[in-house]
Amino acid sequence: MKAYIKTFGCQMNVHDSERIADILSRHGYEITDAPRGAEVLIINSCTVREKAWHKAISEAGRLGVRKRDRDDLTIVFAGCAAQQEGDKVFKLIPAVDLVLGPDHYGQLPSLIERVRECKSQLSRVGFDEGRPGDFLSLEPQGKRTGTSAFVTVMKGCSERCTYCIVPFVRGPMRFRPDDDVVREVESLAQNGVREVTLLGQTVNAYNYEGASFADLLARLDRVPGLERVRFTSPHPGYMTKELIESFGHLETLCESIHLPVQSGSSRMLRRMGRRYTAEHFREVVEKLRSSRPDILISTDIIVGFSGETQEDFEQTLGLIEDARFSGVFSFKYSQRPGTPATKWRDDVPEEEKKRRLAALHTVIDRIVDELRAELVGKVLDVLVEGPGRNPGQLTGRARNGQIVNFPVPPGMTLGSALGKLIDVEVVQLLPHSLEGSAILPVRAR
Ligand code: 5AD
Ligand code: SF4
Repeated sequence: MKAYIKTFGCQMNVHDSERIADILSRHGYEITDAPRGAEVLIINSCTVREKAWHKAISEAGRLGVRKRDRDDLTIVFAGCAAQQEGDKVFKLIPAVDLVLGPDHYGQLPSLIERVRECKSQLSRVGFDEGRPGDFLSLEPQGKRTGTSAFVTVMKGCSERCTYCIVPFVRGPMRFRPDDDVVREVESLAQNGVREVTLLGQTVNAYNYEGASFADLLARLDRVPGLERVRFTSPHPGYMTKELIESFGHLETLCESIHLPVQSGSSRMLRRMGRRYTAEHFREVVEKLRSSRPDILISTDIIVGFSGETQEDFEQTLGLIEDARFSGVFSFKYSQRPGTPATKWRDDVPEEEKKRRLAALHTVIDRIVDELRAELVGKVLDVLVEGPGRNPGQLTGRARNGQIVNFPVPPGMTLGSALGKLIDVEVVQLLPHSLEGSAILPVRAR
C-alpha cells in the first residue's frame, strides 16, 4: 500500500513524520510524496498557534474530499491537534478515519488495518507515561543524504508557559536513557552520519538518573566519526554553567544555538510563566559569548501577548539590539484553548500586533545583514548536504548553522563531495544563504 504524509509544525513533527514513514516502510508500505495514488493519507498536525491549527484542519478537509471519488482511502489525523481535539475531529471532518496522538505511532499499521477492515472511526490519544523508554528510535538513516540526523533525547514538557499548549498535547517531560542515546548516535556515526541534532521540547532539561544534558553532550563528543552536535530547543532556565562552558571545550558542539526568549520585558516574562528575567537572559547570552566568541544565537519572540504595552515591546526591541540575534522566529500571540493565559483578554488589537511584528522585522533584518556582512572573507567549515541551487553547485551548512552554496571544487563531483567537510571562503551574500568558493587545494574530510 502507498501512504502520503503531510507535516505541519516544528522539527519535532518533522522527525515524528520520519518515524511514521519508517514504521510504515517496515510494514511494507511505500511512502509517496503526493496524495494521488496513495491509499493512506496522513496529516501530522500542529496546534501550537491558531494558524497552524487552521492549516492542519483545512488540509484534512481537502484530503477528505478525495474520498468522494475513492472509497478505499484511509485518512489519519495525527499529531498535536489530534491529541488536543480527540474525537471532536470526527465532527469537524467526518472523512477522518483515525485520530492519533503523538505517543501512539507505533500502533499505526495495526490501527490502519483495523479501521480499513471494520470501516469504523477510531481514536487513540493519551500519554505513554508508564513506558518512558518507548522512543521508537529510527533505523540509522540521514535526513537527505545520510550526513545528518535527528535524535530524540526527551519528550513532553513540564513547563507551564501560560500561552503554550504543548504541555497539554505532548504530556509531561520524559527522558530517554543516556546509554540508548549514545548507542543510537554511535550506530548513526558508523553508518556515515556526521552531524546529529538532539531533539526535545526543553532539551537541556535532560536528566536521566543523574546524567545531565552537559554530561550527555560530553559523552557524544567522544563518539568516533561524529563531527557535529546541535540541539533544539533549549529553555533559558536550564542553561547551566556546565552547559554554557561546553561550548568552549567540546569539539563537536557547534557554535550556534536557538534559544527562545519570547520577550525582552521581565514583566511579560513573568506573566508568560517563563521563570527567568530579561536580565538573566542577557547574562546567559554574555556567558555564551565568552565561552564561544563566534557563536550565533537565534531566538523565538511572541509579540502582542496579553497585557503587552508599547514599553514592554520596546524592551524586546532593545534586547534584540543588544543580544545581536542572528535570526528571530517571531509570532503574533494567539490564544490557545485550555492554556492558562485564556483567563486574560487577548487585548492587543490585531492591527497593533501586525505593527509590532513589522517593527521587529525591521530591527532584526538590519542586524542579520550586519552579522552576515561580517562573514564575507571568512573561511567556514561546510558539511556538504547536496546539490546547490544552480547547476554545478554544492550546498551545505557551516558549523554556525549558515547555509553556504559553492561551485563543485576541481577534481570533485557531487557524489564524492556529499557528506564531506570542506573549507569554503564566503565571497557573497544571497538573501537566504551565503555564496562561497572552496579553498584550494581542497582538503575534503
Ligand atoms: N501564540 C503565539 N506564539 C506561540 N508560541 C507558542 N505558543 C504560542 C501562542 N499561543 C511560539 C513560541 C514558541 C514557538 C514554538 O511558538 O515562540 O517558542
Ligand atoms: Fe511551551 Fe514553554 Fe514548554 Fe516551550 S517550554 S514547549 S513554550 S510550555
